[in-house]
Amino acid sequence: MKLTIVGSGYVGLVTGTCFAEVGHHVTCVDNDEKKVKQLQDGIIPIYEPGLETLVRKNVQLGRLKFTSSIAEGVENGDVIFIAVPTPPQPDGSVDLSYVEKVARSIAEVLTGYRVIVDKSTVPVKTGEKVAETIRRYRKGNVEFDVVSNPEFLREGSAVADLMNPDRIVIGTNGERSAAIMKEVYQPFNAPIMVTDLNSAELIKHASNSFLALKISYINAVAAICEASGADIGKVADGMGADKRIGRDFLYAGLGYGGSCFPKDLSAFIRISEDLGYSFGLLKEVERINADQLDRFLKKMRKALWVFRDKKIGQLGLAFKGNTDDIRSSVGINLALKMMEEGAILKAFDPKAMEKCAISYPKIPLVEDPYEVAKDADALVVATEWNDFKELDWLKIKSLMRTPLVFDGRNLLIPEEMKLLGFEYFSVGR
Ligand code: UDX
Ligand code: UDX
Repeated sequence: MKLTIVGSGYVGLVTGTCFAEVGHHVTCVDNDEKKVKQLQDGIIPIYEPGLETLVRKNVQLGRLKFTSSIAEGVENGDVIFIAVPTPPQPDGSVDLSYVEKVARSIAEVLTGYRVIVDKSTVPVKTGEKVAETIRRYRKGNVEFDVVSNPEFLREGSAVADLMNPDRIVIGTNGERSAAIMKEVYQPFNAPIMVTDLNSAELIKHASNSFLALKISYINAVAAICEASGADIGKVADGMGADKRIGRDFLYAGLGYGGSCFPKDLSAFIRISEDLGYSFGLLKEVERINADQLDRFLKKMRKALWVFRDKKIGQLGLAFKGNTDDIRSSVGINLALKMMEEGAILKAFDPKAMEKCAISYPKIPLVEDPYEVAKDADALVVATEWNDFKELDWLKIKSLMRTPLVFDGRNLLIPEEMKLLGFEYFSVGR
């Protein structure tokens, strides 16, 4: 099929590439001409495992191309996916101006029937507004359908998530578009759920909020573990073995960050409020999440006594492992807070340092994880990178001034760290 994706960011680029990989002909559109040029030259602007190889392969096979022209995208795609940002506004509501602008641009160049799909995370009833916008700005009575098809990919495993989805949600009020969307997803061999437009939009916000709720729940239980001497890992294993609960997303730590959970939660709270329901449960999820970092800093202060002039090495800046993304990263907040309190920081991340240097030039970076440990009074693990488990921790200990390790992601094994001679602190154990 001929597909077009508008917005070639984390979501749009991975989605377009995976569509090409299963045999569709894909045009990726982006209004950032520099990015389009890079992509045309085979330079991938983000780090996502497996992505680069797939982009190169599908470009070579002629199934994937990049352009900054929406008109070209609309001309070349029977189905047009909108994957532009939907960032939060200061009051928590969603800024839909990019989606609106793209809908208008599509309408202005529409000459024949197209399915227009919202892939971005949007408030319930946005699809209705997109349809209204297109009706207003189209030339004549050219036909179209609007569909909601939320993405559930996680950064760091986006390619694998997209190629092997748990389910595909297609929200539409029309049979014609439902049939076309089923054809788009037929090669993925995943269960396809067709719902009405509004329900599909709600599935996304309700799912992400539920996952964030699981994380805050386990972080609250971690606080009880710390107070009682229980072990959060064992508690989560015991809970997670119940199929009704499941072990996923029960990892205690510094709390959730990233470009999705924080923004989607505040959006869902706001959407509910606008619809007349006060979602107090989700406000508590946010509160617990914010509290995780404060509780961790308190733990550090208790052990270090004062931060001022302490040399602290930080491993991890990305909002989670396997990505270079630092949007709403708890690790970045931790670094900034420690520096505010006078700590002398050195930080390292396997992939996120380039982005960190651009957005947070004040955070001192070093090119090597062992350099972080050199003469340090303490070491902090802020991101769940598996690479950090593989480090030579004996060597790290020999480099440090005093061997204190604060593991904000429960990445290391307490007994082993103690055997190596570290004073080791983690979350909920
Ligand atoms: C996406 C979704 O849009 C968001 O709703 C969802 O919650 C998370 O994923 P993401 O792909 O992470 O966002 O954003 P980003 O990496 O910033 O990519 C967006 C791309 O759209 C950028 O390349 C930007 O240049 C492009 N863009 C933006 C357009 O092409 N047109 C615009 O009008 C605005
Ligand atoms: C999330 C959703 O999982 C995905 O379905 C949606 O499409 C986009 O938002 P993403 O934000 O890329 O994906 O990563 P995710 O793996 O969900 O992690 C989000 C945050 O939660 C990270 O900061 C991570 O460190 C944290 N997390 C995750 C925990 O603290 N504990 C866990 O058990 C799981």
